[in-house]
Amino acid sequence: MTALPSADVVTRELRGKVLLVTLDHPPVNALSADVRRGLLDAIEAADADPAVEAVLIVGAGRNFIAGADIREFGKPPVPPSLPDVCNRIEACGKLVVAAIHGAALGGGLEIALSAHYRLAVDGAKLGLPEVQLGLLPGAGGTQRTPRLIGAQAALDLILSGRHASAKEALSLGLVDRLGASGDTLAEGLAYVHELLAGRAPVRRTRDATALSDRAASHAAVAAARTETAKKSRGLFSPLKIVDAVEAAIDQPFEDGLRLERTLFLQCLDSPQRAGLVHAFFAEREVLKAPETRDATPRALTTLGVVGGGTMGAGIAVAALDAGLPVTMIERDDASLARGRAHIEKVYDGLIAKGRLTAEKKAAIMARWSGSTSYDALADTDLVIEAVFEDMAVKQAVFAELDRVCKPGAVLATNTSYLDIDGIAASISRPADVIGLHFFSPANIMKLLEVVVPKQVSADVVATAFELAKKLRKTPVRAGVCDGFIGNRVLAVYRSAADAMMEDGASPYQIDAAVRAFGFAMGPFQVVDLAGGDIGWASRKRRAATRNPAARYVHIADRLCERGWFGQKTGRGFYLYEQGSRSGTPDPEVEAIIDAERERAGITPRSFSDEEIIRRYMAAMINEGANVVHEGIALRPLDVDVTFLYGYGFPRYRGGPMKYADTVGLPTVLADIREFAKEDPLFWQASPLLVDLVERGADFASLNRSA
Ligand code: 3HC
Ligand code: NAI
Repeated sequence: MTALPSADVVTRELRGKVLLVTLDHPPVNALSADVRRGLLDAIEAADADPAVEAVLIVGAGRNFIAGADIREFGKPPVPPSLPDVCNRIEACGKLVVAAIHGAALGGGLEIALSAHYRLAVDGAKLGLPEVQLGLLPGAGGTQRTPRLIGAQAALDLILSGRHASAKEALSLGLVDRLGASGDTLAEGLAYVHELLAGRAPVRRTRDATALSDRAASHAAVAAARTETAKKSRGLFSPLKIVDAVEAAIDQPFEDGLRLERTLFLQCLDSPQRAGLVHAFFAEREVLKAPETRDATPRALTTLGVVGGGTMGAGIAVAALDAGLPVTMIERDDASLARGRAHIEKVYDGLIAKGRLTAEKKAAIMARWSGSTSYDALADTDLVIEAVFEDMAVKQAVFAELDRVCKPGAVLATNTSYLDIDGIAASISRPADVIGLHFFSPANIMKLLEVVVPKQVSADVVATAFELAKKLRKTPVRAGVCDGFIGNRVLAVYRSAADAMMEDGASPYQIDAAVRAFGFAMGPFQVVDLAGGDIGWASRKRRAATRNPAARYVHIADRLCERGWFGQKTGRGFYLYEQGSRSGTPDPEVEAIIDAERERAGITPRSFSDEEIIRRYMAAMINEGANVVHEGIALRPLDVDVTFLYGYGFPRYRGGPMKYADTVGLPTVLADIREFAKEDPLFWQASPLLVDLVERGADFASLNRSA
């Protein structure tokens, strides 16, 4: 975002008695220093000018104001501060009105709350999403919002960070008026004139009385505190939000603002804020793959899916949900019926929970068609293959697609590991072939690895990003290799976890340590959820090509040999009582582990949780560095987004590479070199990591320079 002189970013124009103040700071009117200065000057000017009777604040472009300028966080503050600007607006002796369209978020809503009257037009989004950045509203939001709409509604808005529509904002009392048309300026001016004509008084939100029932307000705070303590899982800012809102009930406005400022600065200084802000920008940066800048996507109105198993059905649901018609191909009628049943099961589940009606399901299913003949795909724009993970089967499917699909159709594979260059080279139109690696369950998981083979044309890659947008997935561009970004890195830290298990840590301790770090699940819980047989099959497939000198832990194989595949078989690393999805530790598994240790001649030793995390993360970071070094991931941030969206990495840590920067790359490298003393083959420091440490650089420097 380029900083323009304040004269340009905030303009003033006298329209009769009304000073029209327009923020024009693309792309989203964020409140950077120039904007704050311009706003302050405008209010000073209004107060000083006897010709001005009222001020109308509007935003140019698609939004009112998206909030504080997130890029300024962590940098030295530049006056005037946002709280000062808000206080000055509120103190203005002339009537101040905000007319809102698009986003009025965070500091944007705080500006609006400092105005004396508020109008919103259809399509406006009002909210205080600071919590999603590890913050709390820091410009009076925690004090003005509850005074205006009550403690409970304010806590709900601030703790969830959700956006309220114009209509909801009106019913909450957050705004006073809905604009009848979409013309914000005309609506705003008309409202100001109406207020002036009716001699409406200057009315300050700091004096609003929605907290007057103190007992009810305290009850709302107490309930929110209990709920937040239970749900906020290691997050720092949510409980601070509750504290700040509580202060609004009992303390004078100025004291409440002071407390809010103190708590805001604590949040601003926290590594969680840095992690969450990194995630915010990273998830936008991944959209800017080179091909999306240079090429135009192909038409994309119809989708084909080959295979109606776990993934094919999930992908079909994701596409149907996005409004796309889907044609499913299966190998026989029974499999096709199963594929359709998989899809219906998802919708029936939603109906059972009251989240979908039977009519809506029927309307969605009307977009689905199935066939056992590939000819049904003749007019399809994009086909995704999701058949068995077997090169010969996949190549046979692609030969059929090559035969029937129209010229220009995009031909995608959902393979997890297979060589997509090999698939592409097997047909007559390799430039149309791409990898679209969804994650299970494909209708829920947000990550989509867009795997870019050598011969693919740029507009096919751009089309894949377009598909991700339609399906509301977060796409990450990846290169072809065994496992792409995510599964390749996963294989390495899983090995580190297996080695720790054989050396003496129980899988239950490892899982608990990984959960305490912030992951939703530990690695062994993940195996049990996904099905141990999947990894077992791939280990068997690779057995012949495995480096015989590399350490191989047999424990998982021993469980699979017994048919213990995890949740679906009632036991894996954990025991699952009748249908239960939360497992309990299994003494028999521990006995198997003991036997394996003995067989391998290992005397078990104890691990602290801290050492478990050091090893687990060092393995993840080192392979992440390799993936960047080899160009499989464009930048470290692409690895971060992969893990945030596909592997449950705690968002407040920003992703593994951001976490590495937080810990310090020299520390990570020193760990790897220490671990290498026991197993030098496994713990080989990535050349990229070594290079960055030698240069005194970090992963963030690669994100900036890419
Ligand atoms: N500061 C700086 N840059 C911002 C920004 C902000 N508050 N909000 C968005 N941007 C940037 C994005 O990074 C992106 O930049 P790029 O083009 O270089 O990638 C550009 O603006 C456009 O953003 P989107 O791609 O997200 O555009 P959309 O139209 O999809 O969404 C939006 C617009 C709903 C406003 C969305 O950008 C958004 O949610 N922004 C963040 C809102 C927010 O969190 N506000 C609170 C900030 S904290 C605060 O206000 C503290 C205060 O209480 C003191
Ligand atoms: P699955 O076994 O559940 O489904 C495969 C389906 O393909 C079956 O319904 C089968 O009848 C059908 N099929 C097989 N040969 C076919 C042919 N020639 N023509 C038409 N249909 C055919 O397998 P799953 O788990 O859905 O995996 C599919 C692909 O997705 C694999 O490549 C896998 O590696 C990949 N994948 C799997 C993930 C998972 O978590 N299960 C995650 C990401 C990718």
